[in-house]
Amino acid sequence: MDRKTGIDLGTSHLRVCVKGRGLVYDEPTAAAFNTDGELTDHGGRAYRMLGKDPPGRDVVRPLSGGVISNFEDCVELLSAVMTKTGVRGILSRPKTAISVPYGITEVECNAFENVCVAASGGHDVFMLIKQPMAAAIGCGVDVLGTRGRLICDIGGGNIQTSVILYKGIVAAGMARVGGDQLDEAIVRYVKDSYNVAIGRRTAENIKIQIGSAHRLTEHGDLAVSGRNLLTGQVVRALLRSSEIREAMAPVLETLTDQIKSVLEKIPPQLSADVYESGMTLCGGTANLPGIDLMLQEKLGMTVKVTESPELAVIRGTEKILGAAGELLEVVSAGEDYQ
Ligand SMILES: Nc1ncnc2c1ncn2[C@@H]1O[C@H](COP(=O)(O)OP(=O)(O)OP(=O)(O)O)[C@@H](O)[C@H]1O
Ligand SMILES: [Mg+2]
Repeated sequence: MDRKTGIDLGTSHLRVCVKGRGLVYDEPTAAAFNTDGELTDHGGRAYRMLGKDPPGRDVVRPLSGGVISNFEDCVELLSAVMTKTGVRGILSRPKTAISVPYGITEVECNAFENVCVAASGGHDVFMLIKQPMAAAIGCGVDVLGTRGRLICDIGGGNIQTSVILYKGIVAAGMARVGGDQLDEAIVRYVKDSYNVAIGRRTAENIKIQIGSAHRLTEHGDLAVSGRNLLTGQVVRALLRSSEIREAMAPVLETLTDQIKSVLEKIPPQLSADVYESGMTLCGGTANLPGIDLMLQEKLGMTVKVTESPELAVIRGTEKILGAAGELLEVVSAGEDYQ
């Protein structure tokens, strides 16, 4: 039996859906290997060991900046997930479709396809999907319409901004900046201001607990443990929401500039459409409180965060699996895509 399976292989999360079954996997893109190189854990279990150096385990995140940085580890991870979710079994042959980010190189794009082929036991990938199209469809945007629509997906490792009009992407841009860089900014800040070393998972937790992109959404403070770099002892630092916002500000500025650079590329008539309808924001980083307010102020247009923004691409992918005809042509990543 053939199963139509859709994959969103992200820097931060791996999400898999199956036509007729919906979302079957949604876990961090992480894997743990033993000293023989065998995969022992994946997803949340592996992610929780990250940065702790567990004995006899090598814990990895095989993507960085939105692209595959370790091909073999990615194949192992995806094939374990396909087996676990029953997508690949003795009687089932997956027909996979994978979404690929906008603006990556041909080599990087091929790696996404080849990972899928290898992980599904040598079966063909029936479609490479343009990720901004999947995101737009997942946000409920009419990609066949004649009004320009602005979509921005800010994930863990990259930001993709695109203007979609009448079946195509008319302007787009990508930068390898996302939630990971916000976490890194927090690590640096705590080190520079408190002389305390924290791991990037702690930094991500700080961002999620008290992070904010706008002063109106600052909330609370958080005590975190880390190692004092001068004494070597474990100490606690009390962090305020406002200082975390300041620590993240340069990265938020870079994200804003990336969106502006795409807006600068479009003709005035299309700008009118876009400014009238506003921007739709998706990707996990869209969950950061106040990011909509901040962008609204800096771009001078309304910004709407879509529901469960981290799921936009996989939601769109699932709809594409059930689609036929014209829509498939529109979303399929052709040679002109990179
Ligand atoms: N409540 C929250 N506040 C701030 N950031 C959040 C929140 N929830 C999730 N994130 C961040 O969202 C990011 C993950 O988003 P997403 O799942 O869209 O990424 P991805 O698709 O795996 O990555 P990419 O598309 O960049 O390769 C992580 O950096 C995570 O810390
Ligand atoms: Mg993504």
